[in-house]
Amino acid sequence: MKIGIFDSGYGGLTILDEIRKLLPEYDYLYLGDNARAPYGPHSYEVIYRYTLESVTALLERDCALVVLACNTASAKALRTIQQNDLPSFGAERRVLGVIRPTVECVPMLSRTNHVGLLATPGTVNSGSYTMEIHNISPNIKLTAIACPMWVPLVEYGEHNSAGADYFIKKRIDQLMSTDPLIDTIILGCTHYPLLIPKIRRYVPDGVRVVSQGKYVASSLVDYLRRHEDMRARLSTGGTCRFLTTESADKFSRSARVFMPGTYVEAEQIELSRQ
Ligand code: DGL
Repeated sequence: MKIGIFDSGYGGLTILDEIRKLLPEYDYLYLGDNARAPYGPHSYEVIYRYTLESVTALLERDCALVVLACNTASAKALRTIQQNDLPSFGAERRVLGVIRPTVECVPMLSRTNHVGLLATPGTVNSGSYTMEIHNISPNIKLTAIACPMWVPLVEYGEHNSAGADYFIKKRIDQLMSTDPLIDTIILGCTHYPLLIPKIRRYVPDGVRVVSQGKYVASSLVDYLRRHEDMRARLSTGGTCRFLTTESADKFSRSARVFMPGTYVEAEQIELSRQ
């Protein structure tokens, strides 16, 4: 059986890339719901339904384990899917999110205990990062700013354009003026690493920018170390297939840019409604 990786669009590729660096031996199936991205501005009910349809597609295609490589889906849908929906697929399937593994690294990174979060409106409004950080380290002050334009910039291939600078600078300035003591900024959206060259341009010197890929990847390594039964179910052909709900050609072209060196020949699928 395979490891499924799900995102609303291309952002999850940044997570897949890091996971495959640490666990190249497994077989992966990636699904981008590009036809309905971005998820960020939608309501809880809509994000939950879209995420469940996508997770179902991956479980039906032989994934033993699905990583929601999307913060918005992890914030809005993970808990409900784990508790209400997953049992009907059999006790041995698992769905994991990206917020917990990201938050666990924060206390090690910040000296001032003033941390910034840049994420989609859905993730920020859910309060999930604030809740998780306070569970782990109550003395950290988290300032969260929503960046509604950043995912569309990536989905529409505008992440390197001059116009992108305006939207990126605007949100970083807003974050740093809200709390100038911030020394660590978490990129709480898996699309944002694709904007990093521009993000770094506007972040003050000495402020660390954290992308979550390698933390999610090492937490998966740790999970598989602790769950021998799951590890035993996973096939080890080292393959990676890509599914999208939008045009396969468009996905393949963009994914090749985002993951140089990886062979991408995507397949378009339609998600069945729950
Ligand atoms: N990559 C998704 C995330 O991490 C983007 C969600 C969206 O489509 O708005 O939140």
